[in-house]
Amino acid sequence: MPRAEDVVFPTRPERFEDRRKERQQRKVVDQFFDHATLLAISRLVSQGAIDAVDFPISTGKEGGVFRGTVGAEWRAVKVYRIANTTFRHLPPYAVEELKRETSVRNFGGLVFAWTRREHTYLGRLTEAGVRVPRPYAHFRNVLVMEFVGTVEGAAPRLKDAPIDRPAELYEELVREIGRMVGTAHLVHGDLSPYNVLYFEDRVVVIDVAQAVATTHPNARALLQRDLANFARFVTRLGHPVTPDEFFAAVGGETVGPPAAEA
Ligand SMILES: Nc1ncnc2c1ncn2[C@@H]1O[C@H](COP(=O)(O)OP(=O)(O)OP(=O)(O)O)[C@@H](O)[C@H]1O
Ligand SMILES: [Mg+2]
Repeated sequence: MPRAEDVVFPTRPERFEDRRKERQQRKVVDQFFDHATLLAISRLVSQGAIDAVDFPISTGKEGGVFRGTVGAEWRAVKVYRIANTTFRHLPPYAVEELKRETSVRNFGGLVFAWTRREHTYLGRLTEAGVRVPRPYAHFRNVLVMEFVGTVEGAAPRLKDAPIDRPAELYEELVREIGRMVGTAHLVHGDLSPYNVLYFEDRVVVIDVAQAVATTHPNARALLQRDLANFARFVTRLGHPVTPDEFFAAVGGETVGPPAAEA
């Protein structure tokens, strides 16, 4: 197995041109790459999923996302922190569901199940033709997926992207969310301009681990909340739309527990 230290931020000549940046990156390494995570990354390297983890794209409370490389291609490597604080930031209904579905009770096990869930949902959404990063691999708390971006870096989040045609953006959101609901049978549950990237003039939905099946008792309320968020956003951009219109356009009335249980 390759040595983890050679994989995470491998020594590149250009790194030495900016010592301060390097020190900052080291801090990130210490924060996220505990021993168990380094081992998980080594495993993904020996599986051929990545050759290296290059630099941080984003670091937050629950984990970090890094750019990685395999051969001539880039990957996004999402690392969930293995800490019992992680689940404080996650929606309780989703954690409850995870606990019911998996036999694991310890936090580590739940984090691994959470990572696997994100991988599974990304696969289901990819198959349904929704624009999401294609999932490539996962091991323990580490997920390897398609990198959305260019040599300049990761694509901006929708909230930071310059949008000059809000009507088209709305149509696109209707199409993507409509496929999520109608074909993948999932409700995102945390949809906002923070969890949608804007790449090559199109949207890419990310951060899907908390999604629920359209038959989930909370699914309809979650969809309504997601769409209210986005109706406000699109309206502010200059294309007025109501949450009800949005809901109808994505086929929201099909969402909810089967009639017999309702
Ligand atoms: N596949 C990807 N390609 C490029 N950038 C990505 C990708 N996935 C995530 N990112 C970047 O990482 C950030 C965080 O990713 P994500 O939303 O999945 O994680 P999170 O756990 O919600 O973290 P945060 O709490 O910081 O939002 C995104 O806002 C985006 O900038
Ligand atoms: Mg997010």
